[in-house]
Amino acid sequence: MPRFVCLPGDGIGPEVMIQATRVLMAFGMSFEEQPFGGQAINDYNRPLPHHTLTACRDADAILLGAVGGPQWEGRSPGPEDGLIRLRKEFDVYANLRPARGDGVALLIVRELLGGLYYGRRGTMDDGTVYDVCEYHPQQVERIARRAFELARTRRGKLVSVDKANVLDTSKMWRRVVTGVSADYPDVELRHGLVDSVAMWLVMHPEEFDVIVTENTFGDILSDVAAGVTGGLGLAASASLSDGGPGIFEPVHGSAPDIAGTRSANPTAMLRSLAMAFEHGLGDLEHARAVEAAVDVALAQAPTPDLGGTATTQQFGDAVLEALEVPVK
Ligand code: NAI
Ligand code: MG
Repeated sequence: MPRFVCLPGDGIGPEVMIQATRVLMAFGMSFEEQPFGGQAINDYNRPLPHHTLTACRDADAILLGAVGGPQWEGRSPGPEDGLIRLRKEFDVYANLRPARGDGVALLIVRELLGGLYYGRRGTMDDGTVYDVCEYHPQQVERIARRAFELARTRRGKLVSVDKANVLDTSKMWRRVVTGVSADYPDVELRHGLVDSVAMWLVMHPEEFDVIVTENTFGDILSDVAAGVTGGLGLAASASLSDGGPGIFEPVHGSAPDIAGTRSANPTAMLRSLAMAFEHGLGDLEHARAVEAAVDVALAQAPTPDLGGTATTQQFGDAVLEALEVPVK
């Protein structure tokens, strides 16, 4: 039996997590819930309590809802510090963000532990503030390999995104990705500049298969991809390392504006669960079962963000009704 640890978090996090745990129960699988984020700050004075971290270390997959909210704004450490720490702790350098819909089936593979968000930062004597974009070639190589491997299981097309006409980190990125491509002659590699890829993504998203890029570009492009394929309520993610458990979470945040209104769309959370089965456990059967049931629920019981009237629970009901439990 796989060991799932669930970190519901704050706002709509717990509301969408319940729908994922209902699916786990329907599969006859157990899970363990642990405090994380703002809730954990309230109860334990820290966003990632020690026992939560210990439970995650023993897990096969970590399911995360969302963290944060106005209540904790400006706090240090804040809910997001728990997130950053968790990602670092498990060395989840590969962030997979698929976008699907209307002829679109693309996957963004974003480097998650380098670049601007982890580089040196500070303020100079004259008041100038700086954040440094830093990458080691090994960081680029491992994310490139991961992307080539994934492209191989799909349509075999990879676009590597950089800003090599300006940035030195990008020139190195391009050189390393090109080097890795020699090991994957079956994958068609193209390089694109981030600005033109952003435009292309809005105009012709159906032309992409796998996109690999650095942290900041990936952060932005994956929200663009989510936007052109139905919005944040649908967008799932997986964050993977080379050994330990992955972290599977919706792309959206805790949505305090709709928390408590029973209208949160649990699709992104449920698709993250499907990714936990596929990429975390190598269990395609359960992954496909979840995806198929979610597709039925999207057609039958759309939530308000998709123009429907179903509540979070009603959407979950539709999922459970459509769910075909694989026989072992
Ligand atoms: P958000 O993603 O929480 O919400 C943006 C907009 O999308 C809101 O109007 C919200 O109602 C809507 N939305 C998001 N998920 C939805 C769903 N499942 N169903 C229906 N509508 C949905 O981003 P926002 O408002 O910028 O941030 C809110 C809080 O979440 C902040 O404290 C932020 O720091 C935190 N956050 C946490 C993340 C995480 O836990 N990984 C990621 C992004 C933000
Ligand atoms: Mg983002």
